[in-house]
Amino acid sequence: MIVHGSVAVPGDKSITHRILLLAALAPGRSRLRGALTSLDARSTARVLRQLGVRISPLRSGAPVQVVGARRLRRPSTALHCGNSGTTARLLLGVLAGHRFPAILTGDPSLRRRPMRRVTDPLSAMGAKFVGSTPDLLPIEVRGGPLFALQYRLPVSSAQIKSALLLAGLVGSVEVRLREPNGLSRDHTERLLRALGYTVATEGGWIHFSPDSTPTPLDIAIPGDTSSAAFLVGAAVLADGGALRVEQVGTNPTRIGFIDVLRRMGARIEVENEVDRYGEPVGDLIVVPSDLHGTTVLAGEIPRLIDEIPLLAVLASRAKGTTTFRDVGELRVKESDRLALIAANLRTVGVRAEVNGADLFVEGCDRPPRGRVVTEGDHRIAMAFGVLGTTRRAKIQVDNPSCSDVSFPGFWYALQRMRGRK
Ligand code: S3P
Repeated sequence: MIVHGSVAVPGDKSITHRILLLAALAPGRSRLRGALTSLDARSTARVLRQLGVRISPLRSGAPVQVVGARRLRRPSTALHCGNSGTTARLLLGVLAGHRFPAILTGDPSLRRRPMRRVTDPLSAMGAKFVGSTPDLLPIEVRGGPLFALQYRLPVSSAQIKSALLLAGLVGSVEVRLREPNGLSRDHTERLLRALGYTVATEGGWIHFSPDSTPTPLDIAIPGDTSSAAFLVGAAVLADGGALRVEQVGTNPTRIGFIDVLRRMGARIEVENEVDRYGEPVGDLIVVPSDLHGTTVLAGEIPRLIDEIPLLAVLASRAKGTTTFRDVGELRVKESDRLALIAANLRTVGVRAEVNGADLFVEGCDRPPRGRVVTEGDHRIAMAFGVLGTTRRAKIQVDNPSCSDVSFPGFWYALQRMRGRK
């Protein structure tokens, strides 16, 4: 495949969730441009509407209007978060500081994902949680006045961190947090700073001391780095040409995959970098390249957690073995990604194995062929979709439309970036 031209990707998922939540808590009218309109973003908008927030329909290309209020309203039915872990966990933080009960639930994948990592520290702040299985949705949250919190996170996780920062904001209490294994994505901290709050970092601790109500936002959301990563990956594997992915987030806590790909021999440049509301944004220019194996260290994982399915399929086309250290967190994503990545790679003819929490992928140049089982996991579908663009590949993805969870139009974008053979 030859790649050519410029592509744009939909708005950033993590930032869209956070801005919808912050706009919901800001009395007045906010205006969001470039918001993601995927299924996950719609889940956040839907549950916020149930909580009394007026949000215009999420339509691609149209700005989203949010009319927020200082307090959310008691919902009359359960809040269904669909497939979205970020919606569920961040909302638990927001609702912990509200004096009404609310039930959160989700689709079968989300109902299998651990929630105690968020409900334990929120309980220490004073919120109560009731559910038949304490770690799993459905959970009823009974919020109220909160205490300040000083807390060491058991895993580096932006969802835990953000849930606790949002609880601090809603409850007007101080929050001090520390992540064990490097900084996870810091969009919440950056957005809070853009809203005028002080979020200090010192000696590995994040310190947030909220002192006011959020104000409405008028903000443009950058292209999603994690969606861009799939197109970058397809361009790296191509036979010639060059691809520009326009105006995507280049926040250092998100671009660990670029560092790893460069180490593997990929040629990726960042151009036209600008600052948008505290988030760096730029164009990624990718030239197809031969790859060689590498070791991805535990300390690098939080900065590329969502790109491991993609990096693993790229590793399968590299010379030598690639090792991903300490990637046990993949077991509790939208699917057991660790098992699915290895099993699907083996299905398409690649040697891959999991040993403890480490993943090993051996590169080869046989054309990958076989039927990929996604279990409805968007990133598994897109990663193997990228592998399917390699010469003489024959990959069938069992549920291609699950990419709509984060990247509506993915298959079209992948098709469009191809030039002549
Ligand atoms: C996200 C944080 C990460 C990531 C997820 C989005 C966020 O999850 O995998 O896709 O927006 O905060 P963890 O916090 O569980 O690592």
